[in-house]
Amino acid sequence: MSAPRRAATPAVRAAELRRLIEYHNERYFVLDAPEISDADFDALVRELRQIESDNPELITPDSPTQRVGGAPVTQLFAPVRHRIPMMSLDNAFERAELEGWADRLRRLLPDVDLEKLDYSCEPKVDGVAMSLTYVDGRFTRAATRGDGVTGEDVTANVATIGVVPHRLAIPAPHHLEVRGEVYMGTADFAALNERAAAEGTKTFANPRNSAAGSLRQKDPAVTASRPLSFWAYQIGEVDGSVPEQAAAADDHPLWPPATQAGSLALLKKAGFPVSPHARTVRGVTAAFTYCGELEGRRHDLPYEIDGVVVKVDDLGLHERLGTTSRAPRWAIAFKFPPEDRTTRLLDIMVSIGRTGRATPFAVLEPVFVGGSTVGLATLHNEDQVRLKDVRPGDLVVVHKAGDVIPEVVGPVPVDGGERPPPWAFPTVCPSCGGPLTRLPGESDTYCTNIDCPQQRVQRVVHFASRGAMDIEGLGEERVHQLLQAALVADPADLYVLEADRLAGLERMGALSSANLVAAIEASKERPLSRLLVALGIRHVGPTGARALAQAFGSMDALRAAPADELAAVEGVGPVIAEAVAEFFANPLNAAVLDRLGALGLTMTEPGAAGLGAPPRASGSGTGLEGGESGVPRTLAGKSVVVTGTLEGFTREEAEEAIVARGGKSPGSVSKKTFAVVVGEAPGAAKTEKAAALGVPVVDGARFAELLETGELPTD
Ligand code: IVH
Repeated sequence: MSAPRRAATPAVRAAELRRLIEYHNERYFVLDAPEISDADFDALVRELRQIESDNPELITPDSPTQRVGGAPVTQLFAPVRHRIPMMSLDNAFERAELEGWADRLRRLLPDVDLEKLDYSCEPKVDGVAMSLTYVDGRFTRAATRGDGVTGEDVTANVATIGVVPHRLAIPAPHHLEVRGEVYMGTADFAALNERAAAEGTKTFANPRNSAAGSLRQKDPAVTASRPLSFWAYQIGEVDGSVPEQAAAADDHPLWPPATQAGSLALLKKAGFPVSPHARTVRGVTAAFTYCGELEGRRHDLPYEIDGVVVKVDDLGLHERLGTTSRAPRWAIAFKFPPEDRTTRLLDIMVSIGRTGRATPFAVLEPVFVGGSTVGLATLHNEDQVRLKDVRPGDLVVVHKAGDVIPEVVGPVPVDGGERPPPWAFPTVCPSCGGPLTRLPGESDTYCTNIDCPQQRVQRVVHFASRGAMDIEGLGEERVHQLLQAALVADPADLYVLEADRLAGLERMGALSSANLVAAIEASKERPLSRLLVALGIRHVGPTGARALAQAFGSMDALRAAPADELAAVEGVGPVIAEAVAEFFANPLNAAVLDRLGALGLTMTEPGAAGLGAPPRASGSGTGLEGGESGVPRTLAGKSVVVTGTLEGFTREEAEEAIVARGGKSPGSVSKKTFAVVVGEAPGAAKTEKAAALGVPVVDGARFAELLETGELPTD
C-alpha cells in the first residue's frame, strides 16, 4: 500500500486512515505478515483519533477507533462467541498519559484516595490473546480473541501447549474461563525461523507472528512441533461457585479473588504459568517507576514484551469503572518507546519484487535492536534514500518500534569528518540486467522486463504464499532452485511438476519431493478468492478478492465482466476494477489462466451468487427462478447485513444462504442495505448505524422467513 499522503480535508484523510488501518490490521492479524511497525500503526490510529476529536461529526460507528482492533474470524476454525467480550487496552506512551489515566480514575472514583490505590503491574507479553475454558476442572476449549466478540476455536492446537493445564490443580467453579497470552520465546523463535529458512518454508517477522501462525494450523501436530508457551493474566467468565470448604482451605487463596493480585495467585495455584514479574504497587508514581525498571530489563527476559499493563488491583472497582466500547477503564497499556541503535551501513542494494518494483534496502553490520538482530532493513524507494541521506559507509541509527520492522532513521552526524559519496540508484536490474525505469510523478522504480528471473521467482513465491494458494514448502529458495533448473517459469508450471524430476535436485529427497507435489496438488482445491490473491493483481488483497469472488462466483464470469460491472461490487472501487480488467485483458495472463483452468484448479467460489451472475439484480424476471444451486433467488440484488449469532446458522452459513439467494452480505451497513438481521449479542456499530440510517432491522429468529420470502417480516 502506498505511503499516506497528506490529504486536503480532514474527511478525506480520515477515510484514508481508516482504509490504511484496515489494511494493516489485515496484514497483521490475518496474514501474520505486517508491513509496518507497531509504532507506525499506532501513529496512524492516533492521527485518526486526533482528526475525530477535532471533528466529532466525522466519527463513524465502524471507525477502527470505536472498535476492538483484532482479527476477523476466518473460515478455518469454528467461531466461538465470547460471553464477556475480549477487549483491547488503551495505550499510554509517556508518563503524562499514564498520569492522565489516573486522573480520569480520580474523577470516576471521587470517594477513593488515589494515593493509596494499588495497581497490578504486569509485563505486556507480545503474543496472542487466548481464552481457555475449564468445565468441572477440565480443559474444554481454547478460543482466540478474534474481533473481541467472536473468536476462533483453536482447542486442538492449544491442547498441544505443554504448560496449559488439562486439569486444574485446585477445586474450581463449574465453569471457569481463564485468559492469557500464548507466546513464543525469542530464542525459540530465532531457531524456528532459521530452520524454516533452511527448509525454504515460511519465516515470520517476529515471535508474535510466529505464535499466531503456529496457532492457525489445520493440523495440531504442526502446532505441537512449535515451541509455544502461555502466561495466564485474568479470570474471565465464571459460573457456579467453589465448594465452601475448598474455598476456605488454607493452602490456596480464597475464592472468589477480590484483587487482580489475588486472581494471579489463584491462577498460579490452579497450575497456570503466571508472570513472576507481576507486582502490586501503591500509587501511579510507583507504577511508572515499575514501567521504567522493566523497560531497562526488557531484553533480559527470554520473550518479547512491548510494555506494561497497569491495572487497578481492586476487582470491585473494575465493576464500577466499567469499559468504553473498546477497552476497560481499569487498565492501561504503558507502551515502551521505540529503541534506537547505531550501526554501520555496509551497502545499499536493490531487490526486485513480483511486479518488477525495485526496492532499495540497507545491508547493515548486524545489530541487536528491539529484541532481535537486524542485518537488513528496507529503504522503500529512491526518494526515501535521498531524504534520509544515508550513504554506504555511514554510521546510521536503526530503530525498531518495540518489534516488527526495523528502520534506518538516518546517518549519525559526523563533526567535520568526510562523508562517503551519495548513493545512486542503479540503472540496471540486478537480476536480469534490463533497464530500471522510474516514471515521472511516481516514487517507485521498476524493472519492466516481465521475463526478469527475479520477478518470476517472486510471482511464484507470492502465488504459493499462505494468504494465497498456501503451498507448504515453496519458499523463495526452493522457487529459485526450480527456476534455475528450468522446471518452473510461471505458476501454472507448478502443477505439472513430477516428484521423480524434483528428487534429482539438490537438498530434495524422495520424501520432500513427494510432499511438495502433494502440497501443490492440494492447492488446486483453494477457492477462487484465494486464486485471485495468488495471481498478484495490483490492488487486489484478500478482502477485494473475496468481494469479487462472492459477487461473480466464477473465473469465467469475472473475466467476462467489464470494469464498470466490477466496480459495482461493494468494496471494489474503480481503481481495483480497472486493475482487474487490465489484468484479464493481458494475453499473457489470459494464457496462464487458461492453463490453470485446464490443469484442474478450482475456478469457482463455494457459496457465491448463482455462479456467473452479475453482482447486481439483472432487473429482469421475477428474481425467483432457481440459481444453479436450485435455491430461489429471493434476495436478488438485496444487501443483507448479519450481526450477532443466529440460531441454526454459523456466520458463514448465514452469509452463504444470503448469497445463494442472489443477495449480498457485506460486513457493514450502508444506506443501500436492505435489512440488518440481528442475532444474539449483536455488534453495536451495525445496529446503531442501521438505526441512524433508518435501515430495517429483522429479528434473528425470522432470518429463515426473510430467506424464504425475500420480504421484510411485517408483523
Ligand atoms: S489484560 C481487556 N494483561 O495485551 C483486556 N493483557 O490489548 C485485558 N496482554 O492482546 C487485557 N499481557 O492479550 C492483560 N498481563 C496482561 C497482558 C495483556 C499481554 C495483551 C492482551 C491483548 C493486549 C491488550
